[in-house]
Amino acid sequence: MSELTRGFTDGEEVLRLERLRKTYNPGTPLELEVLHALDLRLARGELAALIGPSGSGKSTLLNVIGLLDSPSAGELYLLGQPTRAMDDAQRTRLRNQAIGFVFQFHHLIPAFSVLDNVLMPLMIRHGKPTPGDIARARELLDAVGLADFAQKKANQISGGQQQRVAIARALVTQPALLLADEPTGNLDTRTAEGVFELFRRFNREFGCAVLVVTHDPRLSASCARTIELVDGSIVSDQANPPPRPA
Ligand SMILES: Nc1ncnc2c1ncn2[C@@H]1O[C@H](COP(=O)(O)OP(=O)(O)O)[C@@H](O)[C@H]1O
Ligand SMILES: [Mg+2]
Repeated sequence: MSELTRGFTDGEEVLRLERLRKTYNPGTPLELEVLHALDLRLARGELAALIGPSGSGKSTLLNVIGLLDSPSAGELYLLGQPTRAMDDAQRTRLRNQAIGFVFQFHHLIPAFSVLDNVLMPLMIRHGKPTPGDIARARELLDAVGLADFAQKKANQISGGQQQRVAIARALVTQPALLLADEPTGNLDTRTAEGVFELFRRFNREFGCAVLVVTHDPRLSASCARTIELVDGSIVSDQANPPPRPA
């Protein structure tokens, strides 16, 4: 792990939302504000669960934070940088530099090898992978328990294994912020717990901030902090008691 540890300082700000709003279909009869003036701050080293009923705006919020979609008002700071005024190229660069994303459906490229899937964000960044890139990708595959699967095609492994590959891929750029949208939504309880254990471990070892959407109260309680979104507003945001030793 040592190569991958970046030694982020806890407490440094990774994410800040100020009065952030998102409106779909503005100026049309279908106009709908789904995020209402959200304020939120996430620091390096934090592990936070985002919970809330279906339709409350969790995916919208993650997509906006991940620079996949734009806010309609307010400001979104990533690594201290205001993002509203950025153009597409600047947003793409910041996303690739600062953010790892894990989706409910892994979005791996089925015909590519597991290793090439993990390398993809680095290839997008600078083309042909360097020996250092390959070493890092292999180290991450080892960390998610898939060292022996590097050369398998992504469609030849199980759903739980695919989600582990997606996590390795999200972390290969050493992001300051890892976003995960219901990453265990399709997995059985034990596999889901294993995936969460990876988030806890990478949060601890890499010091990246993690914001993960889950419906499972046991999984959210295993995060240090739980943020609850209802109808596009944050209705609670609290620290969870540390897990009791087994
Ligand atoms: N692309 C879109 N266009 C219009 N409305 C959308 C779009 N995406 C989501 N919504 C609406 O925004 C609200 C929040 O959705 P979403 O962010 O997916 O919630 P969650 O992830 O908490 O289930 C819902 O009412 C949903 O129908
Ligand atoms: Mg969702």
